[in-house]
Amino acid sequence: MNKNQQDNKKISQLQEHTTDNQDRKLTTNQGLKINNNQDSLKTDERGSTLLEDFILREKITHFDHERIPERIVHARGSGAHGVFKLNKSLAKYTKAKFLNEVGKETPVFVRFSTVAGSAGSTDLARDVRGFAVKFYTEEGNYDLVGNNIPVFFIQDAMKFPDLVHAVKPEPDNAIPQAASAHDTFWDFISLMPESMHMIMWAMSDRAIPRSYRMMEGFGVHSFKFINSEGAVHFVKFHFKPKLGVHSVAWSEAQKISGTDPDFHRRDLWESIENGAFPEWDFGVQIIPEENEHDFDFDLLDPTKLVPEELVPVQLVGTLTLNRNPDNFFAETEQIAFHPGHLVPGIDFTNDPLLQGRLFSYTDTQLSRLGSPNFHEIPINRSINTVHNNQRDGHMRQQIAKGKVSYEPNSIGGGCPFQAMMKEGGFTSNNERVDGNKVRARSNSFVDHYSQAKMFFNSQSEPEKTHLQNALVFELSKVTFPEIRERVVGQLNFINKDLASYVAKRVGVEVKKLDMPNQSIPADANPANLQSEEREP
Ligand code: HEM
Repeated sequence: MNKNQQDNKKISQLQEHTTDNQDRKLTTNQGLKINNNQDSLKTDERGSTLLEDFILREKITHFDHERIPERIVHARGSGAHGVFKLNKSLAKYTKAKFLNEVGKETPVFVRFSTVAGSAGSTDLARDVRGFAVKFYTEEGNYDLVGNNIPVFFIQDAMKFPDLVHAVKPEPDNAIPQAASAHDTFWDFISLMPESMHMIMWAMSDRAIPRSYRMMEGFGVHSFKFINSEGAVHFVKFHFKPKLGVHSVAWSEAQKISGTDPDFHRRDLWESIENGAFPEWDFGVQIIPEENEHDFDFDLLDPTKLVPEELVPVQLVGTLTLNRNPDNFFAETEQIAFHPGHLVPGIDFTNDPLLQGRLFSYTDTQLSRLGSPNFHEIPINRSINTVHNNQRDGHMRQQIAKGKVSYEPNSIGGGCPFQAMMKEGGFTSNNERVDGNKVRARSNSFVDHYSQAKMFFNSQSEPEKTHLQNALVFELSKVTFPEIRERVVGQLNFINKDLASYVAKRVGVEVKKLDMPNQSIPADANPANLQSEEREP
């Protein structure tokens, strides 16, 4: 361990749970030494195996249960330990302690991932990349669960299961495994104009990074910073790689994928092993609460970014990855991120995609990790000790002493009590809430093309060619001409040359779509037809 690693509180906490098998004798799970790990117990050398062979039974039983479900999305990933160092205080905006004191170092674990593929899929897929950071702060774990693209496909959590069902292999034959190259994905996209901005990013070179070390990270949603006086600012989070942003071309990606599907995993591992520690500048875009409505888009809309020309990114910290995990399963696989893991000074906004995520992560982790006690898995433990009255459940590790596990109580008996306000703790932003219950979307979310155009126009000529050819490649895999036509119709709202370039090569005409800004064009959804027009 180098000095940095010794000072890392999370690493020293993990050491307590780490076994070193070097020069040790083999034992059963009960600690009994094993003298023969080659042969089962038999009635004779050629005879039947005995049921009483508890050593064989234990070994095989454990093996039978080795696999856990992979993540429902972001199943393919790689992670590393590191440190976050604050270079400029944000105390003016947030009371989060890890963002207050210049020079403060906070241990982190970062997991990068693709979204659509399974755990064994190639690193080189054309896909979004996850960029999830767990900060082990002194006030508890803070998770920034972001992506390498600053916007998302959909505006409301209600559509997430549909999006994922459309992008995953088709349910009847589980084909195709390659992300996005199929009928269902493009069918869904063609009917979701709000996805067009993200589609421009996903078809660009950004979706095939050269290395995890060379991609940006974004919190995507607007979050809130709250300072010690209670003042509120909106904030967008950024990670900018010190090595710059680099991608591979599609033709390169296909070749690399064929020869080394672990390309990004290997690159991350080897660079850390060789001491070439990956580094990112951490930046924030800060918008005072009173300026919330100053933009021609809605800050709560996750399909929009805040242009850096309007609100510059202030670089305030450095993220460095400096240590590979000791065990992929125990650390990278069992880590559980959650956008709802907050510390005082950071809060949510009403972004309707973010709000749905707040439910989803713990819920999925209950089945993925199999117990409500997954916070006790070493990689998930806070560096603060945990004291509460939650008890029992599958695989409980903590042995909480005392007679009483409820509050209020007059007995004491080892029960932890709630903290006084002056002792710290989380208070939600004291925002006024008033309104009618509606299942609806704001009109301020309706412009789906301006930022898609902005992104397309920002591309250099070679980048535009790559993006156009990506669309041609993807759409040429779509078997339904009407889906190709609808996608081209959407592209036509972004750029006419782009639409006709693609249309010509995928064998369709550029036709005008009726209701570009409506999430589901009326003529494309049978449910929207008048009852007499509906098929019986
Ligand atoms: C992983 C749900 C949107 C970034 C996951 C997982 C679920 C999920 C269930 C698996 C978690 C696990 O098994 O531990 C959702 C829902 C969304 C949504 C319901 C929208 C309503 C987003 C967005 C981002 C994002 C907008 C980026 C800002 C990630 C990342 C992971 C992930 C990075 C992988 C975390 C890891 O490495 O373990 N998401 N997600 N998700 N999600 Fe989301």
